[in-house]
Amino acid sequence: MEYHNPVLLTESIESLNIHPNGIYIDATFGGGGHSKEILKHLQKGHLYGFDQDDDARRNIPNSNNFTFVHHNFKYIRHFMRYYGVEHVDGILADLGVSSHHFDTPERGFSFRFNAPLDMRMDQTAKLTAATIVNTYEEADLRKIFKEYGEIANAHKLAQNIVREREISPIESTEQLKNIGKRFTNPKIETKYLSQIFQALRIEVNNEMGVLRDFLQAGLAVLKPGGRFVVITYHSLEDRMVKNFFKTGNCSGTIEKDFYGNAQTPFELILRKALVPTDEEIEINNRARSAKLRVATIVEK
Ligand SMILES: C[S@@+](CC[C@H](N)C(=O)[O-])C[C@H]1O[C@@H](n2cnc3c(N)ncnc32)[C@H](O)[C@@H]1O
Repeated sequence: MEYHNPVLLTESIESLNIHPNGIYIDATFGGGGHSKEILKHLQKGHLYGFDQDDDARRNIPNSNNFTFVHHNFKYIRHFMRYYGVEHVDGILADLGVSSHHFDTPERGFSFRFNAPLDMRMDQTAKLTAATIVNTYEEADLRKIFKEYGEIANAHKLAQNIVREREISPIESTEQLKNIGKRFTNPKIETKYLSQIFQALRIEVNNEMGVLRDFLQAGLAVLKPGGRFVVITYHSLEDRMVKNFFKTGNCSGTIEKDFYGNAQTPFELILRKALVPTDEEIEINNRARSAKLRVATIVEK
């Protein structure tokens, strides 16, 4: 089975405006689809591909212009310093999980298979979805389902999970799926279960926290004129990226100078997010929720 089919490939690579001798970061290497395309444009340049999942290692291209970094992308600044690189010409991040994660039953990301409730992208991390479901306070579960899954009846769901786990621990995707099914209409069951699984996945991998750290590190590492290209897959992360590119901070607060002019380190390359064409979505259904945002560091 294919590891991952890259989303918005042409659009994201064009947005990076690659210089043949430039230095680039692919923050989410995965199946290496975007990286392979970046490498085609490089001569003396170099690409650093980050992925926190060791499985991605199997896709490392055979190229002297490439270095794989098996770490969380929130550490890009730290690692660039380690490699003696002060600034880079472009950063690409294609957020979230890969098809490989969804299609590998034992990783526990999908309710299509019965498997342990895991959902860790970094397989060395401690926190699993089972730990969250079996140990978090009801109020914290409710918050996760509401905020990260946008689940309307998060209250009922959390209450029931706590009741069920008192009878026996909820260890498998199947158990969680059967609990979830009771709280939704069969017509929208797949969407509802996806929301439950998405919410837990975001918590397991601290996706909002690391995205915040990554955006700030990216701003520090990019050179003036450098491109920041991000593909998001849900509204929470898209809002954070949109705010950050508009203002230079995640809350979206616009700082003004003495004369009232808005101060931001970025200039938007795309005024609005770019979304995949109907043709791309038809070929690759995973692309359906993708949004591409691009900004550059203002040259002073
Ligand atoms: C959507 S896939 C990227 C696919 C890739 N663009 C391709 O063409 O194959 C996201 C990848 O980023 C990795 N990832 C997600 N969050 C990460 C993080 N905080 N640090 C490092 N890697 C991360 C995941 O393990 C996954 O392999």
